[in-house]
Amino acid sequence: MDYFVSIQLDRNSKIPLYQQLADALYDLISKDILKANTKLPTIRKLANKLKVNNVTVINAYKYLEKKGLVYSQVGSGTYVSPIPVKDMPSPAYEEKKEIKQIMITEDSINFASISPSTDLFPVESFKCIVNEILDKDKGNAFSYQESQGYEKLRESVADYLKSYGINSSKDRIQIISGAQQGIDILSKALLQYGDTLLVEKPTYHGAIAAFQSRGARIIEVPLETDGMDLEILENYLKIYHPKFIYLMPYYQNPTGYSYSLKKKRTILDLAEKYNTYIIEDDYLSDLNYSEEKSIPIKALDHRNRVIFLKSFSKILMPGLRLGFLVVPKNLLDNILSAKQTTDITTSGFIQRVFDLYLRKGLWKSHINEIREIYKKRYIYLMKLLDEHLKNEISYIPPDGGLSLWIKLKASISVDKLSDILLSRNVIISPGSLFSLSKESLNYFRLSFAAVNEKQIHEGILILKEVLNNMNSDPASVEPIL
Ligand SMILES: Cc1ncc(COP(=O)(O)O)c(C=O)c1O
Repeated sequence: MDYFVSIQLDRNSKIPLYQQLADALYDLISKDILKANTKLPTIRKLANKLKVNNVTVINAYKYLEKKGLVYSQVGSGTYVSPIPVKDMPSPAYEEKKEIKQIMITEDSINFASISPSTDLFPVESFKCIVNEILDKDKGNAFSYQESQGYEKLRESVADYLKSYGINSSKDRIQIISGAQQGIDILSKALLQYGDTLLVEKPTYHGAIAAFQSRGARIIEVPLETDGMDLEILENYLKIYHPKFIYLMPYYQNPTGYSYSLKKKRTILDLAEKYNTYIIEDDYLSDLNYSEEKSIPIKALDHRNRVIFLKSFSKILMPGLRLGFLVVPKNLLDNILSAKQTTDITTSGFIQRVFDLYLRKGLWKSHINEIREIYKKRYIYLMKLLDEHLKNEISYIPPDGGLSLWIKLKASISVDKLSDILLSRNVIISPGSLFSLSKESLNYFRLSFAAVNEKQIHEGILILKEVLNNMNSDPASVEPIL
């Protein structure tokens, strides 16, 4: 049956034709009229049928491919993705999200960012190192670097990892241009269309986006305050045989929760039992405000089940675009080849500068300095919340990291709260950003990375006022179902 003749395009609409066509195809896919792996008509055939330009069809197919709804095979055509549509946001939803661009101005109180404010960047010490590298290495600093990473940096990273209890040789280290690239490269290296993987619920949306771009099936495992729900995790491992489990054992994004040692060990055992890998995203473990030492899962991994992923963005400077992976030996080649096809190499210049920065011990002293600053903000924020919002909210103090995961006691729409705060120039991250189904679960993430004490004070007073107004407005309070 030819379902495509029924597609109606409105040439007078303000919505571009390619978007109307993509929406119509989405509709056919979501209703399971076009089934998984069905071949779509060739571009010319569909263009003729609908009396549109070839480019309209090309753009519609491209759009659906970007959203993971279809995939193309070189020389063969475009096919419906095998991932159930219910696991994917609809194009219309994505549009809405894209339109809602947030304007961040100088006087915004930005509780949404988990990147350090620029006044905390160690610019002066970096300047000296940059000059030293330029004097020493001259033009060599700007030649192509080995794709695996500058050897000396891999050596100093291996050395630095010892303080985390991780023993790794430089050969197991892959330098990357930031953790986001690491996630993307791992997706390329480990996932095929339709493969399954497990993530925490809620989780970091940048990871979800990278996995979705590979057409993977993402299954969420509920997160408890001490790590994933192990019963559900084991059930899913049994049923789905995932390629890997992606998790953040320290100051998880967005919840701030950390895994107990017991859960870390059990998850390692489960990975071995069900023959899968763990991607351990350590984006923040250095920001520990307690006396308790952090133990990465990688430090407990004697069976090569863990891919350790580390970013320097949150502690140092996000614009450096630098991080690294510690990789089990059997995965090294695939990961290296994914890195090569992505950007050939991470900037050799930045790698040299960071190597010297590590060797001079400046990284360690910077962490210590910045930890004190953030700890002060953390304590100050909690004091204010205690003073002003004790009856309205609850949270679990994470003892580290850059944010609090706030639960509203009343059943108020967090998205609505976020919109009202935005109109007052205060930005928060609603919980809906962090799950596949976009549920807010009555939570939002309140981060203190990019706000000083004055802004924290002002922002909390505004939050209090807005919450009080919403609480006393019956239209804002939603029935608990
Ligand atoms: C959990 C997590 N992983 C990875 C990243 C990406 O970090 P990078 O800036 O190193 O790419 C982020 C950024 O916010 C993050 O929150």
